[in-house]
Amino acid sequence: SGRKLIVGGNWKCNGTLEQVKAIVDHLNDAHVPCPNHIEVVIAPPSCYLPILKNTLRSDFNLAAQNCWTGKGGAFTGEISVEMLMNMNVPWVILGHSERRTLLGESDQMVADKVAYALSQGMKVILCCGETLEQREKNETNAVIARQIKAVAEKVQSWGNIVIAYEPIWAIGTGKVATPQQAQETHAAIRAWLSQNVGEAVAQQIRIQYGGSVSAANCKELGSQPDIDGFLVGGASLKPEFVDILNAKI
Ligand code: G3H
Repeated sequence: SGRKLIVGGNWKCNGTLEQVKAIVDHLNDAHVPCPNHIEVVIAPPSCYLPILKNTLRSDFNLAAQNCWTGKGGAFTGEISVEMLMNMNVPWVILGHSERRTLLGESDQMVADKVAYALSQGMKVILCCGETLEQREKNETNAVIARQIKAVAEKVQSWGNIVIAYEPIWAIGTGKVATPQQAQETHAAIRAWLSQNVGEAVAQQIRIQYGGSVSAANCKELGSQPDIDGFLVGGASLKPEFVDILNAKI
């Protein structure tokens, strides 16, 4: 496809200082063919970003798990894009289903965050995905189109966006999407982009699959033509994350 593999490790709200040190040691010792064959992005809780900045191997990149919709100021509890840029954190994960569901982030809010982060030079992993109920009602493509359309209305360039397709029913459940289900939805995302944004963007954008990715299932998922990597949650905290990084090589 010509698209470079990109794998993210989203630690979510996990890890003690001791665990963080152990994971970093393990990652630093691992053989991973980057940056030539794979891009790796690690997203720890924000309080650990400076520690990782100082200790994580320099061929792995860092991501925040969230940022504010605009310039920083009187927004208690938020982290601004300016702060992340100041700390040399190049990536931010936006629109994760946990933030959409638990923190009430709307499509509009996610789109505002994406547009602002891009405008300041950050790269974005934009998450989208449907609930089980929506899949059963055959609404998967419509839900994802709605989520991506909100962003398409606010951004001009897609070069610094990676899309992560994460079916909500597969997140943290052990119920991974089948390679066919994931491939079908990834192809639908590309088709939507081709029709509504442009063919070049549709072909060039990288689309990760996320939801119960493990060392055991990543090879088959990774062999699908429209799957360009993974966004890994639970398994990114475990030694098997290194096996996932080496899955498609
Ligand atoms: O961002 C990561 C996803 O939510 C997947 O989480 O691998 O624990 O299912 P999981």
